[in-house]
Amino acid sequence: MNEHRYAARVRGVEMSGIRKLFEAGGPDAINLGIGQPDFDTPDHIKMAAITAIEEGKTGYTPNAGIPELREAICEKFARENSLAYRPEQILVTAGGSEALHLAMEALVDPGDRVLFTDPGFVSYAALAAFAGGRPEGVPLDATLHIDVEQAKEQMDGARIFVLNSPANPTGAVESEESIRALVEYANDQKVTVISDEVYEHFVYEKEHVSAARFGEDVITVNAASKTYAMTGWRVGYLAAPEDYIPEFLKVHQYAQACATSISQYAALAAYTGDQRPVEQMRQEYRARRDLLYAGLTDLGLNFPRPEGAFYMFVPMGQALIQRAVDAGVIIVPGGAFGSRAPDHARFSYATSRENLSRAIARLKALME
Ligand SMILES: Cc1ncc(COP(=O)(O)O)c(C=O)c1O
Repeated sequence: MNEHRYAARVRGVEMSGIRKLFEAGGPDAINLGIGQPDFDTPDHIKMAAITAIEEGKTGYTPNAGIPELREAICEKFARENSLAYRPEQILVTAGGSEALHLAMEALVDPGDRVLFTDPGFVSYAALAAFAGGRPEGVPLDATLHIDVEQAKEQMDGARIFVLNSPANPTGAVESEESIRALVEYANDQKVTVISDEVYEHFVYEKEHVSAARFGEDVITVNAASKTYAMTGWRVGYLAAPEDYIPEFLKVHQYAQACATSISQYAALAAYTGDQRPVEQMRQEYRARRDLLYAGLTDLGLNFPRPEGAFYMFVPMGQALIQRAVDAGVIIVPGGAFGSRAPDHARFSYATSRENLSRAIARLKALME
């Protein structure tokens, strides 16, 4: 076979440890490894996509997204986040992932420091590295929340601070006070904040607060993916001060042209249509969170109850994690999310209560 050459950019980055879990385990395995809703996309959203196909809305759209969707996203920001955006400040992307990617590409120069929590969502370090930046983890406190003072210290001279609340993999929801302190300090230090709010609707006690309320230099990243159970449709967006958008568009138009036309019409129905399915999903996630949390704490695994997203980040030794996986309870070792939490595992409760109960029973059998 020929020996093919690859750029250092890709050689230096590892594959995500999570994707391979899509196929993990035998037929009897219970997969708590995957971070995607197990719900189906609501019918009215599917119907909007079918109508778009039937009406021939299948060509390229404007690079920044269809005007109706950019408008609907502004209305969503006003309604849900108390933020006033104009359509010129919105860029529709292929999922939140593309929004994160193009923000990093457009903002990070070689050697720039990019901060995010460790443990944190797997993409931040990889995307910062692709852009030539220096990824840098910020440790969490004992409750798995951001240590604001520690984060502030690291912000000195940094280029980007990525905030993710509700957080993957911890399920932590940051308080308004912490978010305000982090954003105000970052912007004061000329550090741009990228606020990844893809789990904003899945909060169970605290309220979600958007970072952009507290600073001018904030790029909000969001997506239809988790909120409307639309991960495969690949539609997300970012919102930013207006002068950023043409620069982001350069990356977006050459790499992507536009988000999928049909998915944009589906997202339009999602943002403008009936919001009750979101609340139903939130309530179901909360019930699952309670079930899983009670089950794990009964087994003697002690940790603060997570407040959002659909994850639990559970302190358990690596040997126990391996035994759980061997027993068909697929969970993700903490090492997949950075270097600071090898003795934790991420449990996703985006699966049925029945599966969660079966998983707890298997763990119980292991631990007795
Ligand atoms: C914190 C976080 N941000 C962004 C994404 C990407 O979402 P999308 O599917 O919209 O690209 C994910 C997906 O798992 C995530 O967990």
